[in-house]
Amino acid sequence: MNILSIESSCDETAVAIVKDGREILSNVVFSQIDVHKLYGGVVPEIASRYHIEKISQMVEECIKQSGLGEEEIDAVAATAAPGLIGALLVGLNFAKGYAYARNLPLIPVHHIRSHVAANYLAYPDLKPPFLAMIVSGGHSHIVLVKDYTDYQILGRTKDDAAGEAFDKGARVLGLPYPGGVHMDRLAKEGNPNAVKFPMVRFKDEPYNFSFSGVKTAIVNYVHNAKQKGEELNLADIAASYSNAITGILAENFLKCAKELGQKTLVIAGGVSANSMLREKLQAGKSPDQRLYLPPLSLCGDNGAMVGAQGFYEFQAGRIAPLSQNALSAFSIEKQLC
Ligand code: KG4
Ligand code: ZN
Repeated sequence: MNILSIESSCDETAVAIVKDGREILSNVVFSQIDVHKLYGGVVPEIASRYHIEKISQMVEECIKQSGLGEEEIDAVAATAAPGLIGALLVGLNFAKGYAYARNLPLIPVHHIRSHVAANYLAYPDLKPPFLAMIVSGGHSHIVLVKDYTDYQILGRTKDDAAGEAFDKGARVLGLPYPGGVHMDRLAKEGNPNAVKFPMVRFKDEPYNFSFSGVKTAIVNYVHNAKQKGEELNLADIAASYSNAITGILAENFLKCAKELGQKTLVIAGGVSANSMLREKLQAGKSPDQRLYLPPLSLCGDNGAMVGAQGFYEFQAGRIAPLSQNALSAFSIEKQLC
């Protein structure tokens, strides 16, 4: 089954064709980062306008690269939630139009579910149940994936997402947007124990996160040092800051896995590209646990992951009517249709 898959929840207009949920036939991404960089973050209005401009061209290009005829496309999947509402509506409405015109099933996909599904594209042997940690610009979740479309949240952030904390920290250090990847690179040159940044733990909620404190701490640290006229060692700060964020992510995830006796661990989302996080998980897991790390090319937003999850949503019978709406916030546990 070939699924035309569209992702437009944020600042990437991404389209793919995925076969049977596991094989990428084509995967094209138009990134708007260069535009949003000028503003230091994603401007929702601009994101929607770029999606409108680019979507038809990206779909055409994607079909061309797949080598398929349009009659070989069996269904259309699109991210329907969560994300920037104007941005989501562009991709979802395009999918609706395409589905209607060609009389194809329309499959709405949850963005965070699709991040998890990116791993199905890289690892043919990976099947639920497993324990997943999804760390992106908007989410930090520890989730039990009981089945392809059955999720239970075990831990989540109580304030900011890990990616948001990386981006804010990077901005304070004068790094370009989005800062996570730049922070990652700079951190490799620094001492992770040079500065003590807070790692928040909740006594009665061992799998929950909080990143607002570490964000404030880096702002204050840099501000105070500048006030005193001290020279900043940016690499040391980046390494120490990354150490605090990835430390608590790895700690809670591994604790959860151990306590639940989970042997299959999966990470997903933009922050799952972080090298320090990957190292900590590799080093901290027990020998009988298997850790699945998505390839770097599939950590960030892409269309292929929508097709991977879309296939399993289709198999579960989740085909939407043309009245399907997009939602800016929506729990990964709930079904979109
Ligand atoms: O999953 P994603 O592409 O989009 C959302 O759904 O939010 O995640 C984007 C986030 C951004 O905050 C970005 O800075 C972060 O992922 N990110 C990283 C790295 N690469 C991307 N954070 C830390 N280290 C990285 N290597
Ligand atoms: Zn994402």
